Amino acid sequence: MGCCCCGCKCCCILLAAVVIVVGAALGLFASLFPYPSHASCKVDWVFGESCPDVKSKLINQMHKWSSNNCDSRQQCNYEYLGEEGSTIRGLHTTQVLKFVDKFNFTLNPGYDGSCYVKGISESLTPYAVIDFGANYCNLRNLVIGSKLHSGDFAYKENSTNSVCTMYSIAHCNLYT
Ligand SMILES: *[C@@H]1O[C@H](CO)[C@@H](O)[C@H](O)[C@H]1NC(C)=O
Ligand SMILES: *[C@@H]1O[C@H](CO)[C@@H](O)[C@H](O)[C@H]1NC(C)=O
Repeated sequence: MGCCCCGCKCCCILLAAVVIVVGAALGLFASLFPYPSHASCKVDWVFGESCPDVKSKLINQMHKWSSNNCDSRQQCNYEYLGEEGSTIRGLHTTQVLKFVDKFNFTLNPGYDGSCYVKGISESLTPYAVIDFGANYCNLRNLVIGSKLHSGDFAYKENSTNSVCTMYSIAHCNLYT
């Protein structure tokens, strides 16, 4: 009887300790994990070109890279899904693991003739958390491939790890 009571007490203490340790570990993980809870990426761009030009360049690039003849740089497997208002939508499938990500770009003209673009890409795999920068690169590769980053035009990109999985360490490996 006395032994059992002691056993229960030990159990309670042990359980409490486990709860505290697990809770602390989860808290630490949440504070150290800098990325969105689901593999995804939001990026904002400003291009010194009109939105109709930016739109047609991005769409052309998706068509150019629509085949499944992949090289090592993921310039393949894009599918253009169409436009709706100021948004164009597409899909990209990664080469090896065949993860499918959906993405879209929303284009808004600025007063000075530039075009403000919000890109968003999201893994269609519900449990995907880490993507090695795939969602970012889905978007960025189209921008670089269509040469929207070059020329005499204004070009700005911004994002952060908290809204773009592995933003700061992604290597899109295109023309670099
Ligand atoms: C763009 O993609 C995001 C994320 O998948 C989605 O929430 C949003 O509704 C999409 N926007 C349009 C206009 O399709
Ligand atoms: C880009 O910067 C603007 C202005 O600071 C901010 O409002 C916006 O949320 C940023 N975009 C992303 C995707 O982080």
